[in-house]
Amino acid sequence: MAKKTVLHLISSARENASYSKGLSSAIVEKLHSRHEIDRVIERDLTKEFPPFLDGNLIGAFYKDPRSLNEAERRLLTYADSVVKDVSDADLLVLGTPMHNFGMSALLKAWIDQLVRFGVTYVYDENWNRKGQLNGKKIYLAIASGGNLPKDCEFISGHVNAVFNAYVGTTEVHTFRVEGTAMPGFQADYQKIVEEL
Ligand SMILES: Cc1cc2nc3c(=O)[nH]c(=O)nc-3n(C[C@H](O)[C@H](O)[C@H](O)COP(=O)(O)O)c2cc1C
Repeated sequence: MAKKTVLHLISSARENASYSKGLSSAIVEKLHSRHEIDRVIERDLTKEFPPFLDGNLIGAFYKDPRSLNEAERRLLTYADSVVKDVSDADLLVLGTPMHNFGMSALLKAWIDQLVRFGVTYVYDENWNRKGQLNGKKIYLAIASGGNLPKDCEFISGHVNAVFNAYVGTTEVHTFRVEGTAMPGFQADYQKIVEEL
């Protein structure tokens, strides 16, 4: 089987106490044990925060790349590195805590750096949007303190929508470790990733 590259993103600041990191790491380990991947690019967003979008950065995002000046090119350094990481990867393993029913602010900021008109998506002559980084498979690992009714879980829908609309045709498979705040909680990652 052809070997592949996985991009593993960590977005909880709780280091080894993090359940989303535990679950995303279990996914990466399983892919390894099945010899599906031979290269892991790991990015811990808590060690190097993605910048927030400000006016200058948004300006640089929408400018014709040929007319960017040196300062604008420098502003795009982080965004360019995110695009390279995703381009280089066949699979993405995205770990996130649930914070206030949403994904972590760090993962959202990373997505805001990735999505860019003319880079990750374009429009064709009929104004149909076309993603440019196609065929990626995403494994999403979400940790939540509670066991949630599915209508309170906006993370997988959001990730699905944004990658399919603005990045490219993408399969998103979601794995959840739920109830982490319950007394005596023990995570059984092997059971959660059984169907992988
Ligand atoms: C700021 C904050 C907001 C949270 N919001 C929610 C929430 O909306 N729903 C929920 O079930 N748990 C919530 N939790 C609990 C976390 O989802 C839970 O601790 C989870 O294990 C965090 O992931 P981690 O272990 O990878 O850090 C919240 C925790 C924090 C610190």
